[in-house]
Amino acid sequence: MTTQTPDYAPHLASALSIARTAGATIHTAFHNRTSLHIDLKNANDADLVTQVDRNVEAAIFSHLRAQFPSHRFVGEEGTAAAGDAHTGLGDHAEDDTPTWVVDPVDGTTNFVHGFPFVAVSIALVVRGIPVVGVVHNPVMNETFHAVIGQGAFLNDVPIPTPPLRPLASLASALIATEYGSDRGEEILGPKVHALHDIVSSPARGVRSLGSAALTMCYVARGALDAYWEAGVHAWDVAAAAVILTEAGGLVANWKDVNAGGAVKYDLCARNVVCVRKTPEGAQARSILEGIRGKLTPVEYTRD
Ligand code: IPD
Ligand code: CA
Repeated sequence: MTTQTPDYAPHLASALSIARTAGATIHTAFHNRTSLHIDLKNANDADLVTQVDRNVEAAIFSHLRAQFPSHRFVGEEGTAAAGDAHTGLGDHAEDDTPTWVVDPVDGTTNFVHGFPFVAVSIALVVRGIPVVGVVHNPVMNETFHAVIGQGAFLNDVPIPTPPLRPLASLASALIATEYGSDRGEEILGPKVHALHDIVSSPARGVRSLGSAALTMCYVARGALDAYWEAGVHAWDVAAAAVILTEAGGLVANWKDVNAGGAVKYDLCARNVVCVRKTPEGAQARSILEGIRGKLTPVEYTRD
């Protein structure tokens, strides 16, 4: 007996549509930043939220809820909470109710500073697995999307675009990481040491784009070779995880998580390490394990 993959076309169409509408709001606000209302989350100068983040998230949930009233909704700014008691994904990651996981503005610091890596990230997650992903950067007019089993696309063109460069070792890799918003030594120290160890391996170059979702999409398209970060939330990575997987890349946790005998990417574990598609699968696996070997676990509360 074969199991049929559900038809996710309506979900993708809805996510693309509201991502573009939200993107238009973000685009306008990006070019009129003098009137931005900025708040500090947790009184932390490195963790910002704006009224645009909140308004856009509410608009996205309103659109999705109208079309999929029985689904669950989880977002970075918690605007779904009023209509839905569930604000965390982790408690429900394995049940059958499809969950929309949304980051209205991934790259909020970039948005505030006028650095153009800013994206709306919308994922549909079923039993802990992202099955639809849309990451839309309205400033640079780049829209990544994927549906499980159907490949990944940038502005409707399949990614990665051939030819695939070989990736024999980190010495020929352009890699990316981020430091997150925690500035405590117990969090920042291990991250800086890991970066030092990986770059001195040596690696060819390192970038920090300020948006986990877009960074993973840049790995998917092959512009970056690998990325790791601790501290990410499910809404930062859910959409990009299906895009990168569908683009033939590897998406993993810092340590493997086994579910029912198979290794799966745990969206709620607060970490990610990923590598782009390579001409031979063994190359990507070897780079992934090489990076993992240099990472010291950083403890975060699960989503
Ligand atoms: C952040 C960005 C950043 C990553 C942080 C995220 P936000 O999301 O994705 O690149 O380093 O871990 O929290 O706050 O801009 O939505
Ligand atoms: Ca985010």
